[in-house]
Amino acid sequence: MPERPRSDWGPFSLAGRNALITGGAMGIGYQIATRFLEAGARVMIGDISPRLADVAARLGSDSVKTVQLDVTDPESCEAAVQRCVDELGSLDILVNNAGIYPASAVLDMSPEFYDRVMNINLRGLVFMSKAAGIQMVRQGTGGKMVNLASITSVHPSGLGVTAYSTSKGGVLMFTKSFALEMAPHGVNINALAPGGVKTETSQGPREGVSNEVMEKAVAAFTQRVALGRRAEPDDIAKVAVFLASPAADYMTGAYIPVDGGYLLT
Ligand code: NAI
Repeated sequence: MPERPRSDWGPFSLAGRNALITGGAMGIGYQIATRFLEAGARVMIGDISPRLADVAARLGSDSVKTVQLDVTDPESCEAAVQRCVDELGSLDILVNNAGIYPASAVLDMSPEFYDRVMNINLRGLVFMSKAAGIQMVRQGTGGKMVNLASITSVHPSGLGVTAYSTSKGGVLMFTKSFALEMAPHGVNINALAPGGVKTETSQGPREGVSNEVMEKAVAAFTQRVALGRRAEPDDIAKVAVFLASPAADYMTGAYIPVDGGYLLT
C-alpha cells in the first residue's frame, strides 16, 4: 500500500514536534527516526555508536541532527537535552530506545554483567527521562515519552535473558510511576513492548549464546507468535509514531505489546 503523504497524517502528525531518539543509529531506533521524519517531526539522534557519524546522511533529511550520547552518564543525558533545545528549539518527544540484550544464565552471571545491562536499559532510561522531564516541565507545553520495554517486562521469553528481562520489568514500572508524576505537567509516558524484532543485533551473534542455540531459540519463539512471524522494525516504529502523536493524548502509563500475539499463546 502506498504511504500517505506527510500532510495527511491527521491526528498522527508530528509536524512541529522535536524528538530525541536514543540509540537511533541503527535497528528499531533508526526506523523510528525514519517514520518520525515522515510524520513531520524534527529529530535528534543520540547514540554511543560510531554509526552516529553517517546516520543523518543515511536518513537523508535536513530535519535530522545528531548528538554523542551515553545514557549511562546522567551528564551526557542532560547535554543531549540541551542540544535539542539549542539546535531544534525545544524537546517535545523522547523515545527511550537505547538498550542491550546479552545473555547469561544467572548461575554464571558476574556482577559486572548485571550492572552493564541494568545501567543501560534501566538506570540510563531513568536519568534520560529525568533530564527530558525537567526540560518539558520548563517548556510548559507538555510532551510525550515512549519507552522501549519488551514482552519480557511481563513474561519471561527465553532462557539466559534474566538480567535483560529484569531491566525491562523495571522499565515498565518506571513508566507507570513516572507517568503518574508527570501527568499534571501534560507529559504522557507509555511503554511500547516489542516481541521478537528482526534487527541486525538480534539476528547477529549474541553475547553468551552459540549460533546453534540462538537459531533454535528463534525458531521456538516464532512458532509461538500468533501472527506467524517476527516483527520488522517498522512494525514497532509505526506504533511509536502513534504513541508520540496527539492520537495518544489520553493515554499515559500504558503498556502496549507489539508482539504479533506472542503473549496470547
Ligand atoms: P540495536 O542493537 O539495533 O540498537 C540499539 C542502539 O542503542 C545501538 O545503536 C546502540 O549503539 C545504542 N546504545 C547502546 N548502548 C548505548 C548507550 N549507553 N548510550 C546510547 N546509546 C546506546 O537494538 P534493537 O534490536 O534495535 O533494540 C532497540 C530497543 O528495543 C532496545 O531497548 C531493546 O531492548 C528493545 N527491544 C528489542 C527487541 C528485538 O527483538 N530486537 C525486542 C524487544 C525489545
